Amino acid sequence: MRIAIISAEAVPYSKTGGLGDVAGALPKALKQIGHDAVLITPCYWQTKGEYLWETAIDDLWLTWRGQPYHAKAFYSEANGSPTFLIDAPSMFHRDSIYGYTEDYERFAFFNHAALELIKRVGDAPQIVHLNDWHCGFAAVELASRRQHDPYWQGTRTVFSIHNMAYQGGFSMSELPALGFTSKFARNAFSFDRYASAMKAGLEVSDTLSTVSRRYAQEIQTSEYGYGLEWLTRQRANRLIGITNGVDYEVWDPETDVELPAHFSIDDLSGKRECKRALLEQFSLPIELDRPIYASVTRLTGQKGVELIKEGAGDILASGGFFIALGSGEKDSEKFLQALRDHAPSRVGVYIGYNEKLAHLIEAGADMFLMPSKFEPCGLNQMYSLRYGTVPIVRATGGLDDTVQNWDAVTETGNGFKFGPYRADKLLEKIYEARFAYEDKAAWAKIQRNGMSIDNSWENAARNYVELYEWTLQ
Ligand code: ADP
Ligand code: GLC
Repeated sequence: MRIAIISAEAVPYSKTGGLGDVAGALPKALKQIGHDAVLITPCYWQTKGEYLWETAIDDLWLTWRGQPYHAKAFYSEANGSPTFLIDAPSMFHRDSIYGYTEDYERFAFFNHAALELIKRVGDAPQIVHLNDWHCGFAAVELASRRQHDPYWQGTRTVFSIHNMAYQGGFSMSELPALGFTSKFARNAFSFDRYASAMKAGLEVSDTLSTVSRRYAQEIQTSEYGYGLEWLTRQRANRLIGITNGVDYEVWDPETDVELPAHFSIDDLSGKRECKRALLEQFSLPIELDRPIYASVTRLTGQKGVELIKEGAGDILASGGFFIALGSGEKDSEKFLQALRDHAPSRVGVYIGYNEKLAHLIEAGADMFLMPSKFEPCGLNQMYSLRYGTVPIVRATGGLDDTVQNWDAVTETGNGFKFGPYRADKLLEKIYEARFAYEDKAAWAKIQRNGMSIDNSWENAARNYVELYEWTLQ
């Protein structure tokens, strides 16, 4: 099958969160099971030059806001599958990947350029796979083009929701300047007096998917639908949930190139070395029997940082170290720094983005905290499972689908899971985990239960192929 995947970020070219991991790994997994998958993503100022193998097109002339616009495209296979990176410096050479008032314009441009590029480089794909609000524009443009351009007639669209909380809203009055003048396009974008790129993608794409089964249900409720639950309900018969995979070429403690020592389900001794290195990294005392609770996260309301704030005193009172790597909302960053200043021999904090450290934390920690308010899928709990780091999570979205609560009687379960979004519920699980940690045999069993799970991309990619086949019917 010929598939084009369009994404605003993709590893190793760019990443701010899990979308980057997924968009980088899925085309590679599709290729490995015999499909012809190509990835299209922007070339940011942050994209390392070593990944830009060659210039594929140096005259990608587009019309933008009524003017000619000269873009280029680089080619690479650094993620393991053919990739085109759209180079348009005025749009993508910025200090950060997102966060500008004109983001809607930057990604509308990216979508338009991606469709032009696809047409330029070969036969039409059967499936164009779009990701999150950044790609809602392409859903509308492609549906419109299909009406009059024979090239696109056989192409169908799949739209994947990675996060309903970000919807790409802007003023309806901007639509004509972005090239959307038809009544069809106005209707598609129109949402509550604004234009919403997420709503457009949900409304006009041929099928919809999201990144876990539980989240596919949740986004049909007012608690998680962010005002679009009526639309996800309306399209429920075209919506499925596919849990993300893990790229074990990047995230496997047996081979991880970022680690000082390796380990596996049969021999965990290297994990202790990683724990030592992690404590050294944060200048914490080398007390290897004291558990490390860790967190690696974007510091946003989604991730349940407020529960960690409320419970921080008790986490320390339970006798553990606490190590956090994250960046985002300033008050959460300040809170973490203050916590470290308050207990410098028990708390390690790194504010910022650090890929290498994320690997060391996954390997060296004992427990991983993810008390998310909502979590469409979540990758870190799956990395934790593989690294023998026991996840403590809230039962929402992909966390609920991938983590099973430990039951000491039946010796089943791979982590600790609570329901209501409350700090006391998180603390109950922290104490339960602390108790289990003291029982070496029980702890080893919990670790093994997690490490033996296969969350590889191969399974997820096969589910996507079924989705694509269904979309083409
Ligand atoms: P989300 O996409 O909502 O942020 P996920 O769990 O799906 O959540 O994916 C987060 C990804 O981003 C993981 O690969 C995680 O290791 C990484 N990550 C998040 N924050 C940081 C950080 N400060 N430094 C390094 N990696 C980070
Ligand atoms: C989003 C979600 C996260 C998910 C990721 C990749 O960023 O917040 O839960 O794992 O997308 O699908």
